Amino acid sequence: MSYLEIKNLQKRYTKNGPLIVDNMNLSIEKGEFIVFLGPSGCGKTTTIRMISGLEEVSGGDILIDGESIIDKKPRERGVSMIFQSYAIWTHMTVFDNIAYPLKLQKLPKAEIKKRVEAAAKATEIQGLLKRYPSQMSGGQRQRVAVARAIVVEPKLFLMDEPLSNLDAKLRVSMRTELKKIHTAQGSTSIFVTHDQSEAMSMADRIVIMYKGKIEQIGTPMEVYHDSATRFVAEFIGTPPTNFFDVVIEKEGDGLIASGDGVRYRVPQKLYNAMLPYVGKKVDMGVRPEFMEVSEDMEKREGYMADTVVNFVEPQGSHSILITNIGNTVAKIHTIEHMDMRPGTKIAVNVKNDNVMFFDCDTSFRIK
Ligand SMILES: Nc1ncnc2c1ncn2[C@@H]1O[C@H](COP(=O)(O)OP(=O)(O)O)[C@@H](O)[C@H]1O
Ligand SMILES: [Mg+2]
Repeated sequence: MSYLEIKNLQKRYTKNGPLIVDNMNLSIEKGEFIVFLGPSGCGKTTTIRMISGLEEVSGGDILIDGESIIDKKPRERGVSMIFQSYAIWTHMTVFDNIAYPLKLQKLPKAEIKKRVEAAAKATEIQGLLKRYPSQMSGGQRQRVAVARAIVVEPKLFLMDEPLSNLDAKLRVSMRTELKKIHTAQGSTSIFVTHDQSEAMSMADRIVIMYKGKIEQIGTPMEVYHDSATRFVAEFIGTPPTNFFDVVIEKEGDGLIASGDGVRYRVPQKLYNAMLPYVGKKVDMGVRPEFMEVSEDMEKREGYMADTVVNFVEPQGSHSILITNIGNTVAKIHTIEHMDMRPGTKIAVNVKNDNVMFFDCDTSFRIK
């Protein structure tokens, strides 16, 4: 049995209203750092509010250590949560802010002092315990919120977009800090974000959500290299995957993906999976970094299209080329800096069969 089990979890805010969380199933092991990733409105906050007990469930169950928690009060669940607007109390010192949940538990004063100091040490704010929040930076206030959440030694640590109010640079450095605290405390954590790069850099496993449903659960490398659905392929990675509307045709003893400016020989390893799609439309996805450019118009293994460079966005270590292939504005991530004049003709080849095909009806990857 896993540490946290979410079984057929459902949420409707009104009796006949839409399913905001639609039959969610998820198992989390002790010590994992799990990230819920998805666009705004997909149900991330609703889900973790049901775990913390701030929101009632409409169906299903949530278990920690084999025990159902859905009938327990928030305070009895052993769960700590920090929010986007990490409300720390401005009229209290940092010490009192962190000590507050322990005072509610009526712990002895000496014990409170010891635990507050340990939490302050873990979050590196030992020197600030006598200050008021107004005398601190955004990053320091965020650390106070984290210290207050970990001081109760929760079984589960929930964070709802905790970094989104910080400036860009601090947001990136706090990722590492939070992960360090998680590891040092031996916590089990669920971190919510809509930022795929935040998710990729922090998660042991990512739960990708869309319209109240889980699209895929996997390690960052799995969701990137082995995307289960079109949505995942589009949401993970920057720039996002390029998609082309193609029809599958038989040619000799092989298959061709054709249309939308593309003519591409389907790799042999996909032959059997793609055979039922002959004569049908599918979505062909190629990540920008797997599109290889040939300035001498060479049709290499993996050739897919001829096009013209419209714009070049130099990034220092590499360039992003913007082109039109059929109706698609395709972005190409070059391996090195390429200084191409707009108007340059190029041939585009898919590297090492790194192509994905998706069923247009179900949006599932064909493989
Ligand atoms: N208290 C509420 N009453 C009714 N609808 C709500 C309530 N809270 C959230 N919703 C709706 O539920 C959906 C999911 O919201 P939320 O869980 O906040 O998404 P996320 O955190 O992924 O942005 C949204 O359509 C939102 O409008
Ligand atoms: Mg939210």
